[in-house]
Order: sequence, then structure tokens, then C-alpha cells
Amino acid sequence: MPIMNWDNSLDIGVKAMNDEHHGLLDIMNQIYDAHAGGKRGATINALVAKLGDACTAHFAHEEAYMQRIGYPGFNNHKALHTSLLMRYGAFAAQIRAGGGLASDEFFQFLKFWLSSHIKGIDTKYAAHAVGAAR
Ligand SMILES: [Fe+2]
Ligand SMILES: [Fe+2]
Repeated sequence: MPIMNWDNSLDIGVKAMNDEHHGLLDIMNQIYDAHAGGKRGATINALVAKLGDACTAHFAHEEAYMQRIGYPGFNNHKALHTSLLMRYGAFAAQIRAGGGLASDEFFQFLKFWLSSHIKGIDTKYAAHAVGAAR
């Protein structure tokens, strides 16, 4: 059972970024399903690393997009990405140190930041993109 499903409240109106957000959600659900199915160790560590890589790539794409559309909130948004990646890295290290055991706290963090960042932060550059060249 997925920890979180896609719904229209996550649609920011920029297809390329929606697609990437979908991808992040998929990997997050893969980690959750593996964990709930009793997986530990290398399987979990590999999925956690995969999500970290996907987030890093997504944030870089998003930052390039924001620059392309001349989004004035670029610096703040980039700083939020940097801090998310640091927190993610700390969770990933903790999971590795615990033998690939993902914690409830990790899933709460993922669920909260994925939805709140997309709905509260990503929507702002998307609103700016309306009227700007996509
Ligand atoms: Fe995003
Ligand atoms: Fe973002």
C-alpha cells in the first residue's frame, strides 16, 4: 500500500516538473512498500540512495527552469532545496548505520516535505511561469 498517492492538489501546471514529482513519489512508495514488506539492509539502502539521487537531479532541473523563466524567488527556493538535501542525507546516513532500517520519522519527513514543498513552494515558480516562456 503506498504511503502517498498522487492527486490533483500536487499538479503545479508544469508538465516536466509534474512528471518528475510523480517519479519522486513512486520511489518514495517503493521504499515504503519494501519497508512494510519487511525489507531491510541493502535493498532499503539502495532505494534510499535512488531517491536521494532523483531529488538531487530534480532540484537541479527545477533550478535551471526557474532561472530560465527569470523567477525572482530563485535564491530562497534553491536554499530550501539545499537544506532538504542535507536533511535527507542525514536520514540516509542514519538508515545505513541502522542496517537499512527506515524509521517512521523518515517516512513522516518524506511525506510532509514532498507535499508541502510541491504545494507551498513549487507552485510559486509555476505561477510565475504563467505568462513567461516555458
Ligand atoms: Fe519540485
Ligand atoms: Fe522545489
